[in-house]
Amino acid sequence: MRKIIFVTGNPHKVREAEEILSPLGINVEQNNCGYPELQEDELSPIAAFGAEWAANLLDNEVMVDDSGLFIEALGEFPGPYSAYVFDTLGNKRVLKLMEDEINRRAVFRCAIGYCRPGEKALVFPGDVEGEISKEMRGNAGFGYDPIFEVNGMTFGEMEDNEKNSLSHRYRALLKLAEWLKEGH
Ligand code: IMP
Repeated sequence: MRKIIFVTGNPHKVREAEEILSPLGINVEQNNCGYPELQEDELSPIAAFGAEWAANLLDNEVMVDDSGLFIEALGEFPGPYSAYVFDTLGNKRVLKLMEDEINRRAVFRCAIGYCRPGEKALVFPGDVEGEISKEMRGNAGFGYDPIFEVNGMTFGEMEDNEKNSLSHRYRALLKLAEWLKEGH
């Protein structure tokens, strides 16, 4: 089985990637070495830079994942600042910001950066459209899962395999797996 090093400090992302990629014949090994995160308005350059940096550091093929929640009524906030906003405001205060909003549309985006040492990174994007719930629901998952709803259920209310069959991360990782299967 092919093995890819997933550079991330987030064990939830690793579990999801394992569940998504192992049926496709790809093993995932976590490495927590970290990488510098660019300040950009989009996820792709952040993922590309991180993947190149980590591939050269570890002298191995690697992937990284940069994700973000883009809320339409808030002008796409928090977007690339999702980690900072989650750590400072958290789900309750994001819901407070959304209190009077009728438009609850949001997109969860994932950019998987993949790179081999000395090469340019490739980025595989994946998006899922959903809505911001009125209140937090469900204990599964992590991060914004309890407030991000797809087809009436929050990610926090879904079984792992349900989230992993439609999430932004699933869609991005599927593209990476298909590309690898082409013989790259
Ligand atoms: P990052 O990709 O680790 O920078 O993630 C940005 C923020 O979005 C962090 O607060 C994560 O916890 C959160 N996040 C990333 N992926 C997911 C997800 O699949 N569900 C819920 N929250 C997520």
